[in-house]
Amino acid sequence: MAGKRILLIIGGGIAAYKSLELIRELRRGGASVTPVLTKGGTEFITPLSASALSESKAYTHLFDLTDEAEMGHIQLSRSADLLVVCPATADLLAKMAAGMADDLATTLLLATDTPVLAAPAMNVRMWQHPATQANVALLRQRGVTVLEPDVGPMACGEFGPGRLPEVTAIAAAIGAQFADGPLKGRHILVTAGPTHEPIDPVRYIANRSSGKQGFALAAALAALGARVTLVAGPVNLPTPPGVTRIDIETAREMAAAVEAALPADAAILVAAVADWAVAPRTSKIKKGASGPPKLELSENPDILAGLARHPRRPKLVVGFAAETDDVIPNAQAKLAKKGVDLIVANDVSGEVMGGDRNLVHLVTASGVQSLPETTKANVARQLAARIAELLA
Ligand code: CTP
Repeated sequence: MAGKRILLIIGGGIAAYKSLELIRELRRGGASVTPVLTKGGTEFITPLSASALSESKAYTHLFDLTDEAEMGHIQLSRSADLLVVCPATADLLAKMAAGMADDLATTLLLATDTPVLAAPAMNVRMWQHPATQANVALLRQRGVTVLEPDVGPMACGEFGPGRLPEVTAIAAAIGAQFADGPLKGRHILVTAGPTHEPIDPVRYIANRSSGKQGFALAAALAALGARVTLVAGPVNLPTPPGVTRIDIETAREMAAAVEAALPADAAILVAAVADWAVAPRTSKIKKGASGPPKLELSENPDILAGLARHPRRPKLVVGFAAETDDVIPNAQAKLAKKGVDLIVANDVSGEVMGGDRNLVHLVTASGVQSLPETTKANVARQLAARIAELLA
């Protein structure tokens, strides 16, 4: 981030004090920081602290701008390389989603086409409220990078998602915004992990997918400069720096999240999507004299095949295929049947899913490239490089 100009909007939340630490971290990385505090922000920290640490004027009011007559607010936001909102409160996210501009911070956010990254921090119920979730989904759809908050104990005594991510993680996500590489300017969609198909409110059908390969791929694509949206099934893995993650549970939710993330230049569907959903039951099935319950299954949508035929089809559509026998012929058949550009055939004859290594063959209409067995991180780097070539 050396030499980059960051406009840091500090919202009014208890986590505002951490924005001071963020200023130091960004300056250590060689960036310059101009702080803007909302009225709420000034209740938690002073403009003087923000100004002293950034060695820049800290702005608070629209009419702070000496050259307001020349639309100084527009100048201020357009001269930045990135706008960072930290902490992004529920109120700020709502105003951003609605396009409100009733103070300096929201005016700057509306008056710019500079990329925006928001690091949310709020009470767990405010974060989980459907209004906030809808605002976040809308902002992400518009290209704003909204980081996932951390899970943990909160200042208000509750526990859950809503804590500001670690300052080093926010700085890494900011650094990733400036990543330069062959995929700079590209939006790439990745799915990862299993899906869970509920049987009743306490039980579900799942598979052994760990999500490791998909997460490694998302990280490798971001490292090459791509803007990555990662639609993740239930897994216990940290979000790679700079990647926008959308958590889902079922195949149908994954299909909807993929649709909402379009348009994309490429889509790589690594997820092990459940082929069937169970007819939903609203109450827990009890053991009874009538013996084990009969589960009525219905077929889930094939997200990969649907995307390959989609009116807004990404230029490059890539699928994975886990095979134990006839690995390459099966992958070639799948390539043709689903209408995709590349199938990564995953040889799972040696071990069950979930390990750290992988043996894959890259199958396209023009031939097969077999990679030696290696770590999932290495597979991800090689595959990301191949995707960059195919998109070039
Ligand atoms: N896939 C999908 N939606 C589904 C099922 C699979 O998008 N409902 C995607 C996976 O993400 C993966 C590829 O399709 O990229 C795997 O294809 P699939 O036909 O499910 O492969 P297998 O499970 O290996 O198929 P089969 O059981 O027929 O061998």
